[in-house]
Amino acid sequence: MNIKDLFIDFFKKKGHTQIPSAPLVPENDPSVLFNTAGMQPLIPYLMGEIHPSGNRLCDYQKCLRLTDLEEVGDTTHHTFFEMLGNWSLGSYFKKESIEYSFEFLTNVLKIPVDRLAVSVFKGSEKIPCDEESANVWNSLGIPKERIAYLGMEDNFWAAGETGPCGSDTEIFYWRSNDEIPVAFDPEDDRWVEIWNNVFMEYDRKSDGSISFLPKKNVDTGMGYERIVSVIEGVHDNYESSIWKDIIALIEQITNLTYSGNEKSMRIIADHLRTSVFIAADPAGIVPSNTDQGYILRRLIRRAIRHAKKLNIDINSDWEEQIAKKIMSQYEHYYPELMEKRDIVLTILKEEKQKFNRTLEKGLKEFEKIVSKKEAIDGITAFHLYDTYGFPIELTIELASERNIVVDEIGFQEKMKEHQEKSRTAAAGKFKGGLAGDGQMETKYHTTTHLLNAALKEILGSNTHQRGSNITAERMRFDFNCDHKLTEEEKEKVENLVNFWIQEGLEVTKEEMTKQKALEIGAEAMFIEKYPDIVNVYKIGTISKEICGGPHIKNTKELGTFKIKKEEASSAGVRRIKAVLE
Ligand code: SER
Repeated sequence: MNIKDLFIDFFKKKGHTQIPSAPLVPENDPSVLFNTAGMQPLIPYLMGEIHPSGNRLCDYQKCLRLTDLEEVGDTTHHTFFEMLGNWSLGSYFKKESIEYSFEFLTNVLKIPVDRLAVSVFKGSEKIPCDEESANVWNSLGIPKERIAYLGMEDNFWAAGETGPCGSDTEIFYWRSNDEIPVAFDPEDDRWVEIWNNVFMEYDRKSDGSISFLPKKNVDTGMGYERIVSVIEGVHDNYESSIWKDIIALIEQITNLTYSGNEKSMRIIADHLRTSVFIAADPAGIVPSNTDQGYILRRLIRRAIRHAKKLNIDINSDWEEQIAKKIMSQYEHYYPELMEKRDIVLTILKEEKQKFNRTLEKGLKEFEKIVSKKEAIDGITAFHLYDTYGFPIELTIELASERNIVVDEIGFQEKMKEHQEKSRTAAAGKFKGGLAGDGQMETKYHTTTHLLNAALKEILGSNTHQRGSNITAERMRFDFNCDHKLTEEEKEKVENLVNFWIQEGLEVTKEEMTKQKALEIGAEAMFIEKYPDIVNVYKIGTISKEICGGPHIKNTKELGTFKIKKEEASSAGVRRIKAVLE
């Protein structure tokens, strides 16, 4: 039986309700491109909202992390992955959670206790040492030498700089044929982490202070790819049952063996799997030059480049064969793959055709460039992007294979210049420059920050933006909140925004590192999407937000703020429609 099924079965027997995997593209959170952990769609419930399926939940969740994109090609990294998770929303806490994990691993998956070790939180200034978890582990048969006490970096887990968080206990497996040492050494990478149980009892505020959440929750996450490799005893994830057939198909298409061509085959397999899941997501993502669409484009183009390296005839139906195999393997668990089958295949094919038209010439051009230059400047990298459709990351990858550096900053500058030019050109088409970043939109942008700050003030600092949409006529703002706003609350919010407008607060912009922005408590739900250098917009002393802008200079330019409508957007998310008069 598949480990996903075993996991769900086990937790159902322990009184959990299975919830479906949320989409890869978060529905109400524009601050991240993709779901990066199983708990992400559950944040409102960890914060105290009532979940319609009860207080014991389990699932397998589609996740995508871009932080590891460059690492893909080795034995363990993936972009898309699945996470098995179980949650207690105020139902059970440390003892039961640890007992369940132990029982699942040793009874269901039959892992010998002797191959396990754990880490627990050693405590910090604000939070005590987690002796409770250590004692539970010990009572189950994990000897003291196999329990490591580690600090914040290792045994404290948070969704972001603010929000639900808590100490955790991590479970490790001895993945080696070498003799198992008596004591657990967390620095020894033959011990691999397989499961993380987070005891989410705190809420971290933007000023760094920590308070208790309304309930003590448990959030666990076990990476599916890893546990499958562990159980099957393989040291290369791509040799596990998850990937075996896909790699075999790539071998067949290329007429080459996996051995000796691992890197390109892994990249093709990983990137096409991720592309299939992005393209099948209900968000309707298609390849483009921004956000999720750009990631999809990058992944498909990188897969094509590696297919070319393996001498695959790009015009053949290689990508269709591989995508079909991937879909048939997953459609039982993710029915959307069946529904979106044709759309996925068309997206892959069209993007392939588009890129293939310029790929050959682009690669020749690249060869010409590197035969003459020792470094690739921004203008040249932009030329490869603009004329041959080479994502900058592809140029960097090609260059690094030859030990050549690329001036990425120069490229970004060129790119910005180009975007500004096309914006001005587009604005020209709409008399008076009201396209996208027109004057009214700019005003609504700034008002959005004011509204965000006012909601925090009136409803509590846990209130965060979940979505936003602006036109020249109105603004729309989604935020987490567990109730319909009362007339009084609406009035207070409206009055506060208008008060700030009348005060004539100055809007200032400061460029800083992402780290610094988070340290000074700038509003940002999740940091994944932001570049390393960000703009922080401040409004007087009442608001600090990481934002791309544009904004007006002083709040007195805004007029009068009026809430037109307040309604439900989705579970635990409210929506305000408002105008400036
Ligand atoms: N949120 C934790 C993690 O991602 C446990 O699910 O590791």
